[in-house]
Amino acid sequence: MSRESLAERLAAEIRSRGPISASTFIAAALYDPDEGFYTRDESTGRAGRRGDFLTAPEVGPLFGAVIANALDAWWTEAGEPDEWVVREIGAGPGTLARAVLAADPLCHRSGALRLELVEISDAQRSMHPTAPVVASISPGPEPDGPCDVIIANELLDNLPFDIGERAADGWREVLVNFENDCFVECLGELLPDVFDIEAETADRLPVLRIAGEWIRAQRAVGARLIAFDYAAPTTVLSKRGTGWLRTFRGHGAGSNWLDEPGSQDITTDLAAEQIVAAADPPRSTTQAAFLRAYGVDGLVEEGRVRWKAGAAVGGLGALSGRSRIREAEILLDPTGMGGFTVFEWPPFLSPG
Ligand SMILES: C[S@@+](CC[C@H](N)C(=O)[O-])C[C@H]1O[C@@H](n2cnc3c(N)ncnc32)[C@H](O)[C@@H]1O
Repeated sequence: MSRESLAERLAAEIRSRGPISASTFIAAALYDPDEGFYTRDESTGRAGRRGDFLTAPEVGPLFGAVIANALDAWWTEAGEPDEWVVREIGAGPGTLARAVLAADPLCHRSGALRLELVEISDAQRSMHPTAPVVASISPGPEPDGPCDVIIANELLDNLPFDIGERAADGWREVLVNFENDCFVECLGELLPDVFDIEAETADRLPVLRIAGEWIRAQRAVGARLIAFDYAAPTTVLSKRGTGWLRTFRGHGAGSNWLDEPGSQDITTDLAAEQIVAAADPPRSTTQAAFLRAYGVDGLVEEGRVRWKAGAAVGGLGALSGRSRIREAEILLDPTGMGGFTVFEWPPFLSPG
């Protein structure tokens, strides 16, 4: 007997229990062990130039070189401990870790650096670097033990989210129903009054409950927490219809988020206030400001000098120097990645 597909299983669940939440649908579409967009095999859910989407680490090694500078700065600030544990959550195939190791920061040369790459997808984990200082980890139900720094690049927008719609009597939850062989939206119960904004009927917003729980769980670890993502104020998102909900497939835009669960990525622009209110308030900066604070301009200048010195003869050093200039343009573009938000929560001071 053939196994039921993910779509058949979700339809059967709706028939027996009634409409399901958007986060239940999205969790299955992205992370179902057999058919989830990120979890099923190496063919989907890949970052990179040939993958389904391009993230800052996949632009090239420059982003990782700046993160390496930041890790050194925080390590120095912490008094250069003998062991410096950096946990990247949602590490994808480990490209950021590779670039950090290639940049060889002082905390690595001194033997302190340990990199823990936490990734839900077995397929992505199988691509993690195998260096002795790297541990590749599957996330458990509880956050892992103590560490010094937690980094999450474009993870929060990929955590399952719910949807609120302004109705005549308040904000109602958008649920997923199954009718005439299709997944369709319907309105559910009133949401607790989470959006204190002026809104018109049919305005919609993401409800980032799961991202909020994730932030609170990570804050309990006590480490410095840095999350990079696209975010905008709630008032801006509410005027975009559902334009803040984005789908991607094979490096292009996907189709309606309810189409063929498992076949496309489903992400949300982050409602900044919900991230800020999730735990103790973070510091927020733009990605461009963060990269400048940790030396991107110096790294680009170094690349420019290398390119000028070696342009006539070519060679890898000169080419990687030139590549830094192009990478910086992409990473710092205020209308693109440079405009992303970096949420930074400081480490908790250890008692005594
Ligand atoms: C958009 S990708 C970003 C990958 C990488 N950070 C980058 O910037 O290229 C998000 C990644 O987070 C992973 N992920 C989603 N939820 C997770 C969780 N709860 N724990 C660990 N990894 C998760 C996904 O499988 C996916 O590889």
